[in-house]
Amino acid sequence: KAPLRLGIAGLGTVGMGVIKIVQEKADLLALRAGRPVEIVAVSARSKGKDRGYDISGYAWEDDPVKLAQRDDVDVFVELMGGSDGPAKAATQAALELGKDVVTANKALLAHHGQALAETAESHGAVLRFEAAVAGGIPVMKALTEGLAGNGITRVIGVMNGTCNYILTRMEATGQGYNALFDECARLGYLEADPQLDVGGIDAGHKLSLLASVAFGTKVNFDAVELEGIERITNQDIAHAADMGYKIKLLGVTQMTDRGLEQRMTPCLVPDTSPLGQLDGGTNMVVLEGDEVGQIVLRGAGAGMGPTASAVMSDIMDIARDIRLTTFGQPANTLIAATPVMDATP
Ligand code: NDP
Ligand code: HSE
Repeated sequence: KAPLRLGIAGLGTVGMGVIKIVQEKADLLALRAGRPVEIVAVSARSKGKDRGYDISGYAWEDDPVKLAQRDDVDVFVELMGGSDGPAKAATQAALELGKDVVTANKALLAHHGQALAETAESHGAVLRFEAAVAGGIPVMKALTEGLAGNGITRVIGVMNGTCNYILTRMEATGQGYNALFDECARLGYLEADPQLDVGGIDAGHKLSLLASVAFGTKVNFDAVELEGIERITNQDIAHAADMGYKIKLLGVTQMTDRGLEQRMTPCLVPDTSPLGQLDGGTNMVVLEGDEVGQIVLRGAGAGMGPTASAVMSDIMDIARDIRLTTFGQPANTLIAATPVMDATP
């Protein structure tokens, strides 16, 4: 069978993680996909940068849009980040040519996912984004495939590794969150703009995607009730601990009789509960289905290996000709749910 040819835009933490897997596991991937998976071309900002792996065998494009449009690229893999700019332009360009796209970019999808999914559908392409929510945890696959026979009743979870790392380290070391940024950067957790992390915005982006997939609704990030961890002090954490609680940035989404609820806010959780025991950059997503009951998924929500693992899962589905979109249903049939926006007391 002909090789599946990838064009990768973005050679940072996640992009190089994908290149590492494709280079080191070529035989395993070919065996599992029934065809070779190859990288043909790449793009990033600085061509000369030493990236730790040999990329000299791949064609280089300065412009990610040109990469997306190359005739020898079957799948455009968008790992640059940013809700607009080249990520949006190149994704759009690939989909308009009917090329499949795999992205880890939750900011792009929270703002433009609906339009991009409709573009994909009208051009016979698939748009996949397993890595965009909860990093290495295969939560999209669980929702769209494993729980396909269920009505989803609720999804809750901790979905930002940076915030969970900072909150748990604040408790363990007494440091403030500013001092913990360097550790998160070293671990490859931080967004290019860390305000997206600590402001709860990144986690809100993820929740809006989860809600859309879980409830078959249009992506509506603007309707997410959001609060980050910037106002949480070491004293708050100590008081919570005295009462037997941990503070977590917790996402909740469920369909109510007043519409779709989407909240991402700091919450108290009992310290002996699974969510209370969640340390470091770990994420946890609890899915509730009307047939299966509760499923708890826990794992690394960020970092090179875990995120690249999720990107590869989408690439491998495409290599196997599994044409299911991540939304799990046609984008044009997603319903517009009336948002619930309760003021948090
Ligand atoms: P990095 O900052 O490590 O890498 C970004 C890459 O994109 C760099 O190679 C950079 O080029 C390139 N790039 C940035 N802007 C442009 C541009 N305008 N034109 C061309 N290339 C550009 O980011 P990450 O790898 O951490 O994240 C990539 C995506 O994955 C983001 O959408 C992020 O939200 C998402 N993600 C990240 C996770 C993580 O744990 N890191 C987890 C889940 C999702 P250069 O190297 O030359 O500067
Ligand atoms: N900045 C994100 C986090 C990366 O800390 O969870 C994973 O999406």
